[in-house]
Amino acid sequence: MVLSRALRPIAARSLSTATKSAPAASATPSVGLAPPNAVEDVQVTAEATAARKQEMAKAAKAKVGGKSGWQAFVSGALDVVRPVAAAAWPTLMPIIDAPSQKRVRDAASIEDLRKAAEKRMHAMTYGYLAGGADEEIALRRSVSCYEDVELRHAVLHGVGHGETDLRTNIMGVEADLPFFVTSCAGQRMFHSDGEVATATAAAKHNVAMALSQLTTSTFEDVRGAAPNHAKILQLYVWRDRVLLKEVLDRAKEVGFTGLALTADFSWVGNRERETRTGFTVPPNYSWRQTVDAMKSPAWTYDFMSRVPYGYKAVPDADFPAESLVDFIAQQMKPEFDWKDAEWLCSEWGDTGKVALKGVARGEDAKRAVETGFDTIWVSNHGGRQLESSVAPFDVLPEVRAAVGPDVEVIMDGGVRRGLDVIKALARGADSVACGRAYLYGLAAGGEPGVDKALTILSKDCHLAMGLLGCRTVAELKERAPEILLVNQASARRQGGIFQGGQAGKVLQPCLQ
Ligand code: GLV
Repeated sequence: MVLSRALRPIAARSLSTATKSAPAASATPSVGLAPPNAVEDVQVTAEATAARKQEMAKAAKAKVGGKSGWQAFVSGALDVVRPVAAAAWPTLMPIIDAPSQKRVRDAASIEDLRKAAEKRMHAMTYGYLAGGADEEIALRRSVSCYEDVELRHAVLHGVGHGETDLRTNIMGVEADLPFFVTSCAGQRMFHSDGEVATATAAAKHNVAMALSQLTTSTFEDVRGAAPNHAKILQLYVWRDRVLLKEVLDRAKEVGFTGLALTADFSWVGNRERETRTGFTVPPNYSWRQTVDAMKSPAWTYDFMSRVPYGYKAVPDADFPAESLVDFIAQQMKPEFDWKDAEWLCSEWGDTGKVALKGVARGEDAKRAVETGFDTIWVSNHGGRQLESSVAPFDVLPEVRAAVGPDVEVIMDGGVRRGLDVIKALARGADSVACGRAYLYGLAAGGEPGVDKALTILSKDCHLAMGLLGCRTVAELKERAPEILLVNQASARRQGGIFQGGQAGKVLQPCLQ
């Protein structure tokens, strides 16, 4: 039996109290034992919002005041140049951007889009997008893990063109494809059309979209780009419950259907690549940043001609995003725990499904369900947080085994081909979230770039299904044990990490 969200934490608490302390004869769990309104009722008051506005303004002022003389001079000069650059944009941009648009058109793979993104972007923003934690071992493993399994096809199965149906229910909403575009903060840093370009392309392919709490486009603009489209809001583990509640209330009004709590971003990972590429917020306009800006004219012109972006889902954040980095950093709450998560689930109430994103252990997955989450999202934050964190694909079977077949499991991490999506589905995921794969497209060419990425992934998925002889995702999952095999050579290389490639089989920890 699946209990309603509100009852699940109470039942779990009652069960654990009963098993810990009650005599065996009366150990039957009783839902009525726990206080019914144990979850804090947060009110948005004028006082609380005024205090936050003040705090935000103070942090922004300190950030602007902390700029060096040179930074202040260049920012001021850019403010003067901006209207002129914006006026010339319709004429100049198509010319400056033509090589990048051509690269997008010519791209045959996500890797081609990555190269196109690297060419178009400023080196420091490319470093932010493409980089991972420390030496990027986790990042590389998240990509290479798919090579450890192989697919065994059937022959003479009679599956014709147009007969593969990849429709999937993602957090309660039907989508045409089993993968979706996942949240990423500050997409206007990559391309000035940002999240709106992502939403437009996602709507075109009818794939689901998760939008970051640190979106640089407004909820309304994203909804305008994809009006009838399922949207999931991704939240960080922030301190200020009033602020979170305001964000949730607005998201409900705008029609978000799902909520995802990113739980693996409680501390900020060590991004060595960002240090190496000289990434600073705000830009320090050093020689290095200036030279790199000249090497990426399309990105730089885009940056110079558009209004500086802000964090549009953060209430009262009427400041450029670059002034708010300290405020945002202070909002991160490393102590955010299961009680906070329970509060968040109860705030979302019956609006739609809630996912816990960042799960890497079966135990955590079980506890998430007891806490009130509907969906388990297996992720290591794109290898950007804990270095050497296990690849999401590797722990999928453990998580699936822990929650059983009826709980929705999403996975992200290292997806660069539709084949990776198919492998993840066969290994136990219900759907797969893609990040860099489409963000490279966005950075390389705005909406046409995202469209190209989704086209590549979609074609890949249909082709793989056709060659495997599977018509639907359900059929793929059913036949997974005979389709998905462990590549024995890589299993040996992994020193025993793989005990089996079949969906539902539990991975054993590395034996050494
Ligand atoms: C934000 O979520 C990041 O990974 O930088």
